[in-house]
Amino acid sequence: MNQKQYVLAIDSGTTSTRAVLFDHGCQIVGIAQQEGTLFYPYPGWVEQDAEEVWDLTVKVIHEVLAKCDVKPSQVAAIGISNQRETSVIWDKKTGKPIYHALVWQSKQTTDVCRSWASYNDMVHKKTGLRVDPYFSASKISWLLDHVEGARQRAENGDLLFGTIDTWLVWKLSGGKTHITDVSNASRTLLYNIHACQWDDELLKTFNIPAMLLPEVKATSEVYTMTDPDLLDGRSIPIGAVVGDQQAALFGQGCFVEGMVKNTFGTGGFMLMNTGQDIVDSKSGLLSTIAWKLGDRLYYALEGSIFVSGSTMKWLRDQLGLYESTKITEQWANDVEDTAGVYFVPAFVGLGAPYWNDTCKAEISGLTLGANKKHIVRAALESMAYQSKDVLDAMVKDSGIPIKNLKVDGGASANNFLLQFLSDLLRCEVERYKIQELTSLGAAFLAGMAVDYWHIEDFIIESDRVFVPKAPQEQMDAYYAGWQRAVRRCMQE
Ligand code: G3P
Repeated sequence: MNQKQYVLAIDSGTTSTRAVLFDHGCQIVGIAQQEGTLFYPYPGWVEQDAEEVWDLTVKVIHEVLAKCDVKPSQVAAIGISNQRETSVIWDKKTGKPIYHALVWQSKQTTDVCRSWASYNDMVHKKTGLRVDPYFSASKISWLLDHVEGARQRAENGDLLFGTIDTWLVWKLSGGKTHITDVSNASRTLLYNIHACQWDDELLKTFNIPAMLLPEVKATSEVYTMTDPDLLDGRSIPIGAVVGDQQAALFGQGCFVEGMVKNTFGTGGFMLMNTGQDIVDSKSGLLSTIAWKLGDRLYYALEGSIFVSGSTMKWLRDQLGLYESTKITEQWANDVEDTAGVYFVPAFVGLGAPYWNDTCKAEISGLTLGANKKHIVRAALESMAYQSKDVLDAMVKDSGIPIKNLKVDGGASANNFLLQFLSDLLRCEVERYKIQELTSLGAAFLAGMAVDYWHIEDFIIESDRVFVPKAPQEQMDAYYAGWQRAVRRCMQE
């Protein structure tokens, strides 16, 4: 008798690693999740231990299979979605990373980027990005220059570089396969999104040896098989690797040009599918690759917000305001407004559309009447204000009015946030029943690679659509206050 088959998604995010098992009806059968450690060795620096990321990955895979009583032989394919840009360099022979992974949010390469400022136009033309510590290139350069002997070892061909997808595929394949996909490559600052290849001029300019880099593949194809030692002697095809934001765009069913999603994760990321065209932004957004299916490349316009859901985590972990973020919806509804409090969460500077890497977070407008509920409400509202900053830029750049915004990520469970967002953006805000849309995107892309799914099998069900209710004048006044708060924050 044929056993039921599933697809396994591994979502390797900034704060946690998840394994999610899907059945053929695109339904979640089980989830296992582990929180990882983030290191903050100096102000603004954010690092991770790539070995820990790997250990957690193995743990969640075993956990989810055991929980669902599914055997490795029942897994038709594995798809990986990952935090993008985060950079690891490791020794080809020993498999040991030469240093911690430098996380996308980390600012330890600000000086490197200052020294590269004059290349900004060239970088933008070739990669759709801008010179900023966010992307991988300055992280690679920093690692080669700060870890003793690393540059020489790289030039001898002894080291490998990867974003987290590449690291995980290399580990899963038992050190056999060194690849990435176009969506991840397009976030390194080294990949030419027009020519679709690593760019020799950029590699030369930034003094990065090409030998370090992985081979770039399509987003949905079988790259390799997992090491049999890992899963009871079975080898499972790895059928997709995809940057987590592009995975969410896919998982939200944004297959058609002009469709937009916003993910409230650690950061906040709004992406619009721009089809086969690269839309060049004049308003502080990025042009990036969404995915490659067969020979077809799809592009996206992206607004990257560095801190979104992690503001709520900061209020919980660093200020101890609450034990569970669940309470924040009620607290925000308990007060009529923020009593004039604004929270600009520039903990690691500000990303799109401001791109200021030196400003710091600020809570302003405090009076003696302000309490923790006002601050929590201001923190939630900041997520919506940042989304409006980006959405306005997106409409301007694309010329496409946005009538419906699809949302996902942890904070999208917060009804207060989504209602405020709809009021502010004056558009429908739609949430689906499945929250794990990033994982669904990665799983579906992997399932397509092994003929488990075809695009017409894709199903997601709407949970709730929020429509604007509050008067526009009131929302405009709130937003004007936000813009003043951001200006103040950037002036200091
Ligand atoms: O570009 C960074 C992004 O991919 C991180 O995603 O889900 O960890 O906030 P997340």
